[in-house]
Amino acid sequence: MIAVRGLHKRFGDQTALRDVDLDVARGEVVVVIGPSGSGKSTLCRCLNRLETPDSGEIRVDGAALPAEGRALARLRADVGMVFQSFNLFHHKTVLENLTLGPTKVRGDSRAEAERRARELLDRVGIGDQAGKLPAQLSGGQQQRAAIARALAMRPKVMLFDEPTSALDPEMVGEVLDVMTGLARDGMTMVVVTHEMGFARQVADRVVFMADGEVVETGTPAEFFASPATDRARDFLAKVLSH
Ligand SMILES: Nc1ncnc2c1ncn2[C@@H]1O[C@H](COP(=O)(O)OP(=O)(O)O)[C@@H](O)[C@H]1O
Ligand SMILES: [Mg+2]
Repeated sequence: MIAVRGLHKRFGDQTALRDVDLDVARGEVVVVIGPSGSGKSTLCRCLNRLETPDSGEIRVDGAALPAEGRALARLRADVGMVFQSFNLFHHKTVLENLTLGPTKVRGDSRAEAERRARELLDRVGIGDQAGKLPAQLSGGQQQRAAIARALAMRPKVMLFDEPTSALDPEMVGEVLDVMTGLARDGMTMVVVTHEMGFARQVADRVVFMADGEVVETGTPAEFFASPATDRARDFLAKVLSH
């Protein structure tokens, strides 16, 4: 579903991604972990072209990423993204947040878009919040709305960039539960997270990044039991020690 080859990205003299290769199979859940500044967000942002790579190739479902125009809008619909900050449209209701993209980009009728939006809001457990503005929801509810909004576009892939990092601790679980459900339903997912429990239980594969490179990759069982590199061992010692 995703094939990345030789991806490079610099910001000035700072190299954010260095020769990154990544394959994600259809239905696979890949959790990307690594220290702050290792290039995790940049990788996600390149995958739906919020950043333009300097070199390398990215294919999603067999097609090279389009640079602009309608094809780019369609790519953004195919590759749903959920960020740390919920990024909902603040002046629109939760329901309108979900219907806008499908009516504008996918060409769905208003009635069809609303029917699907209500179904998705039920699925993420906030069906009763449809008429509210985002600010009237808790952080966990807003993040679940953001996930539902991405799903409303019928994406082929979902990218999550630290989706629970900005949440109060008691709301982390409800968002991880929605993501776990999605994974079980067969969604192809790339998830950047520091939630090691989620990585252990839900990931098919863990990718460890440091200094803009993919340093190692393995099943959660392999990776957590016996990381192959010092950098991964050091990182795990820090995140698992408290
Ligand atoms: N828009 C930007 N402008 C300049 N430097 C950036 C930008 N985005 C990321 N970087 C740099 O690229 C590197 C990787 O950042 P990032 O992908 O955000 O890492 P991570 O998500 O793993 O914390 C960092 O050194 C960061 O400072
Ligand atoms: Mg980041």
